[in-house]
Amino acid sequence: MHEKKFEFSYEVFDSIDELQKEDAWLLNEAREVTQQAYAPYSKFHVGAVAKLVNGEIVAGSNQENASFPAGLCAERVLLASVSSIYPKTSIETIAISYQSNGAISDHPISPCGVCRQSLQEFEQRTNHPIRLVLGGMEGKVYVISKSSLLLPLAFTSDELL
Ligand code: THU
Repeated sequence: MHEKKFEFSYEVFDSIDELQKEDAWLLNEAREVTQQAYAPYSKFHVGAVAKLVNGEIVAGSNQENASFPAGLCAERVLLASVSSIYPKTSIETIAISYQSNGAISDHPISPCGVCRQSLQEFEQRTNHPIRLVLGGMEGKVYVISKSSLLLPLAFTSDELL
């Protein structure tokens, strides 16, 4: 027997003001895009904005449904849009923010498990790491160099080929 260890590190910034200019701009866009969410059930509005390697910007927001499982997270709406509008194009960075009715948006949220799976496969098939910039409407910001770091021991398409 031997033990294996998984470690990952990420950057923590005290506020958006400490970010490099491009990341601050992208996070501000994600904050704005929360307003495009359709989230009448959870009232949790998520905005995700990607900067692609070709310089284009694509936005996504969560889109819910009265049949709850039919709802989509902002991250997967975004990935599907990128693939549809700019097929095979890699993503450089995604900024994610949120607003929740009645709760203060003062800390980062990170993608749910299903979105981590989708992010991992997007990275793999475009052969490019996706940086994540995570922040609320205020407060600390996390920068993660590669989204697949959030999903160790992932099940991947390698098993199916
Ligand atoms: N949601 C996202 O869009 N992204 C996340 O990373 C977490 C959760 C959405 C799904 C649902 O519409 C609402 O937030 C509450 O879970």
